Amino acid sequence: MRVLLIGSGGREHALAASLAEDESVTKLICAPGNPGMAALGDCVPVNQTDPAAVASLAVTSAADLVIVGPEAPLVAGVADAVRAKGIPVYGPSGEAALIEGSKAFAKEVMAAAGVPTAAARVCKTREEAEAALDEFGAPYVVKDDGLAAGKGVVVTDDRAQALAHAMDCDRVVIEEYLDGPEVSLFVVSDGKHAKALLPAQDFKRIGDGGTGPNTGGMGAYTPLPWAPDDLVAEIMERVAEPTLAELAGRGKPFVGTLYCGLALTSKGLKVVEFNARFGDPEIQAILALLETPLGGLLYAAATGKLESFGHLWWREGAAVCVVVSNEGYPGDTVTGRPLYGADEAGIFHAGTALDTSGQLIATGGRVLNCVGIGGSIAQARQEAYALAEGVKLEGGYFRKDIAANI
Ligand code: AMP
Ligand code: GLY
Repeated sequence: MRVLLIGSGGREHALAASLAEDESVTKLICAPGNPGMAALGDCVPVNQTDPAAVASLAVTSAADLVIVGPEAPLVAGVADAVRAKGIPVYGPSGEAALIEGSKAFAKEVMAAAGVPTAAARVCKTREEAEAALDEFGAPYVVKDDGLAAGKGVVVTDDRAQALAHAMDCDRVVIEEYLDGPEVSLFVVSDGKHAKALLPAQDFKRIGDGGTGPNTGGMGAYTPLPWAPDDLVAEIMERVAEPTLAELAGRGKPFVGTLYCGLALTSKGLKVVEFNARFGDPEIQAILALLETPLGGLLYAAATGKLESFGHLWWREGAAVCVVVSNEGYPGDTVTGRPLYGADEAGIFHAGTALDTSGQLIATGGRVLNCVGIGGSIAQARQEAYALAEGVKLEGGYFRKDIAANI
């Protein structure tokens, strides 16, 4: 099977590494890929958010399966364009991807499907925003309605800051604050049937102890030793299955990853957000434990054959991912500095490039993902931190408390 993988981040590098281990994958083409992925497949340039360009690349590369990693191409309709060429694609249509692309749409689907989530108001004017802030009270949760790479959400006790964020966005969702630990569950769906991966937890804030602004994610671990045994079954039954059925019923079947971001609150589990793709960096840790060949699983989902696919196999133990970011992230970052120690096994490239002399440099906010595996979370953590400490990058930063004391 020839696989075309769209994307260029750490998630895609980890997907590429798993695909490269799948014997059914005879050829891997990464578009555009990154310097780390170049060791695993052919990297070819493409404008990822141009549906016609990706569809035409799928045809010329004779792909049997296209996998779309990031959300922006999905929301732009890349999967629709590939599907229209008759090529199986793992990733939802533009309409179904709105479950991530519009927080207001996600809330409406959840209400229709009876899925538990925070009470919320969609606001366009200052008056509406002020009324919603006062209705829910502090801590205030204000979310940009559109895609914002994990940085469009402000959670604060400061009403003026909450209102200022609302005024910076065209349309916002203001909602009730959810307490309790967060869980990410990725559900692989063929539109009708679905399979859950291992649950994971990510670390959203930039600073140790969960301080500072939200980021795309600074680390993750899986599985969750503290979670109740029936957690995954409960999420499938109360969240994933009703949501997938609701989308299918609207003629927008969801083929791809339904990312269920949940809070286990004192009043039971509630959805914090849905995404339309694998979470980054959680999937880097999850794939480290997946024994089932990934290409076969995603092909079954892309071709509507998940019901007969069988059980997923996982290796024993735990995996931890530590993200190394550039100076300044999640604000303005300093980029272009030389990067060393990045080609170890277990390190995935998230924001790297080669300069004109062939030197690896750090670009973007999140630069590398260091994944450790072990018999326990403590062992996996040690391995991940050993990798992160071996990275040489001026101004490079990582949290010191990823998966600590779990
Ligand atoms: P989102 O982009 O919706 O995932 O939000 C990013 C992060 O903001 C979440 O992972 C939470 O840590 C936090 N967050 C979002 N919504 C809420 C909420 N209703 N209550 C508390 N924290 C939230
Ligand atoms: N790790 C959070 C996300 O991918 O949105």
